[in-house]
Amino acid sequence: MAAPRMFKLCLLGAPGSGKGTIASRIARDFKLKHLASGDLLRAQVLSKTELGNSANQFMQAGKLVPDELVVGLMLAELTKVRTTPWILDGFPRTREQAEVLHKEEKLDFVVSLEVPDDVIIDRIKGRWTHLPSGRIYHTEFKPPEVPGKDDITGDDLVQREDDKPESVRKRLEMYRAKTHPLKEFYDVLGILRVFHGTESNVIYPRVHNFLKDLIPAYGGPF
Ligand code: AP5
Ligand code: MG
Repeated sequence: MAAPRMFKLCLLGAPGSGKGTIASRIARDFKLKHLASGDLLRAQVLSKTELGNSANQFMQAGKLVPDELVVGLMLAELTKVRTTPWILDGFPRTREQAEVLHKEEKLDFVVSLEVPDDVIIDRIKGRWTHLPSGRIYHTEFKPPEVPGKDDITGDDLVQREDDKPESVRKRLEMYRAKTHPLKEFYDVLGILRVFHGTESNVIYPRVHNFLKDLIPAYGGPF
């Protein structure tokens, strides 16, 4: 019997380390479904669901949304993609989330992005987001075709509430305290690979090379 064509990947990295940018490229190049907890939460906030209303106060303050809310949302999303290879971006973010996920789904690999804090703070200042889709732009590095407008829909772009410097600093502290320790959790399982750098355009070709060699063992390319 042919091996199942399935691959479950997770991207760890501080806020602004390039998870969204790199996960989108991986999803495009290896045909994985991109599941970004932040984008899914922002979609809930935008459509004013009960979950979105509860999550909003935490997100605006740059705090983590309580585990039970995020876990419920993400596991529900994962049940929709049982047979599609996927990449998680922004989840899990705490030990508790990692443990619940590990009971439900065994990750095949975890990629961790390591970018210095000063580079991150500088970047986030210029980021503009199309909230409904999660598409991101940067005033210097990736400007939209028309300033302030999404390339695909023409909608207005916004600066995320939690991209203000004070909130970014809190998110970085939270990352060090809660998420960075997950590296050890996955290292012990033997599925962690760390990539250091300051630019996604330099980091991504290395990630791509690594996955290109790894994915055939899981039945890909998909
Ligand atoms: P989330 O949306 O996941 O935010 P984050 O992890 O803080 O990360 P970001 O989206 O800010 O950055 P990124 O790493 O994706 O980088 P990007 O590619 O955009 O979460 C938001 C909130 O939701 C959390 O704070 C929390 O409240 C809640 N939440 C989400 N998941 C949760 C969970 N599991 N548990 C609890 N709460 C949860 O790149 C960064 C920027 O850099 C871009 O603007 C890019 O254009 C720019 N840039 C600048 N220079 C370069 C360059 N040289 N190369 C590439 N990009 C560059
Ligand atoms: Mg992101």
